[in-house]
Amino acid sequence: MDNFIFNNPTKLLFGEGQLQRLPKELARYGRKVLLVYGGGSIKRNGLYDELLQLLNENDFEVVEMAGVEPNPRLTTAKRGADLCKEHQIDVIIAAGGGSVIDCTKLIASAAKYDGDPWDFVIGKARPSEALPFGTVLTLTATSSEMNAGSVITNEETQEKYGWGGPLNYPKFSILDPAYTLTVPLDQTVNGIVDTMSHIFEQYFHTAENTLFQDEICEAALRSVMKIGEQLVEDPQNIELREAMMFAGVWGLNGFLSMGTRGDWGTHDIEHAVSAVYDIPHAGGLAILFPHWMKQTFPKNPKRYVQLAVNVFGVEPAGKTDEEIAMEGIDRLSAYWKKIGAPVSLADYDIDDSKLELIAEKAAVNGPLGGFAQLTQEEVLTLLKSSL
Ligand code: NZQ
Ligand code: ZN
Repeated sequence: MDNFIFNNPTKLLFGEGQLQRLPKELARYGRKVLLVYGGGSIKRNGLYDELLQLLNENDFEVVEMAGVEPNPRLTTAKRGADLCKEHQIDVIIAAGGGSVIDCTKLIASAAKYDGDPWDFVIGKARPSEALPFGTVLTLTATSSEMNAGSVITNEETQEKYGWGGPLNYPKFSILDPAYTLTVPLDQTVNGIVDTMSHIFEQYFHTAENTLFQDEICEAALRSVMKIGEQLVEDPQNIELREAMMFAGVWGLNGFLSMGTRGDWGTHDIEHAVSAVYDIPHAGGLAILFPHWMKQTFPKNPKRYVQLAVNVFGVEPAGKTDEEIAMEGIDRLSAYWKKIGAPVSLADYDIDDSKLELIAEKAAVNGPLGGFAQLTQEEVLTLLKSSL
């Protein structure tokens, strides 16, 4: 195993009705609250009214910041930071999916910084303090509700990068599956794909003596696939929403990668695709991941055989490693297609005209990925095979 330090300080409040605990959690940090949300889904599903009622009844002073876009933008985070400074905000609530939460993370640090918040995203500066924030999650996908990651798009330069740090952990996150019942089918599918992709990114690593970690990842993948295929058939089923919400948090809260470093190349490439074409993150992953797997099979055939047999139920007898591995990858593609995920870049009207640019952006810091280091040229090959 690789050495590691594990410290995840986010307090989870999971289950129906947990929103009632919000005032008590918030009060620890102050009374002036910035409420950050997206394009209006929380107004349509009733969460907004419930939040305001709770906050008003408990004498919080609320400033609102609406309009965080999917693939949240730097300019939006700056707008939020300005509001925090102007109103001397004590604490922030992010009510929404990964984009609202990621944007809130940058707002929280930018509120205590006089420079350009993009400095944090590109690692030019590290925040030394940040406003505390909590989340009310409405979409299962990113695990941003319990991790230190934040992915921000600079729309001017068409760059999209993840950044992180200890100040990015939410103080608390309220996870009530009832608020995810209104998530449309395509976003529900995206959440399943993103959660599976996070597990893949952590499963493909180079550490040794990791049987425990690997088997947990395999079990997690099998469970998410079972829950996912039932959920797309029965999206109003609160128990399935609950099970998926739990799986989503585990996907990327650090538990699955203790002692391993994972790959993350596919995420870097997808972020470059979204930076140029502004497509949904998990839609890009569904297209890229099977091709990444086929391309990186020679780096560690045994790992692919293990995945194919233990997760996708491939019968290995009488087959070569390559045949077993490819059958596993094809089963993954078939599963994602069956639940309604996109299969090629053409599904988003992406042609070959900007693939060089995307590859250049993805490999801006050199070869990418911890399990299989891909050069810019190899990224381009992957993108071409995904057309
Ligand atoms: O903006 P609103 O109106 O809220 O609508 C959103 C948005 O249009 C809608 N939605 C959310 N909850 C809903 C709902 N619609 C109906 N009912 C509800 N209950 O869904 C749409 C997508 O929301 P978004 O937050 O963008 O989705 P997601 O949670 O998938 O987040 C994607 C962003 O997270 C980043 C991605 O790159 C992307 O920018 N990621 C963040 C990570 C992290 N922080 O650790 C890791 C991930 O790998 C990922 O890169
Ligand atoms: Zn992801």
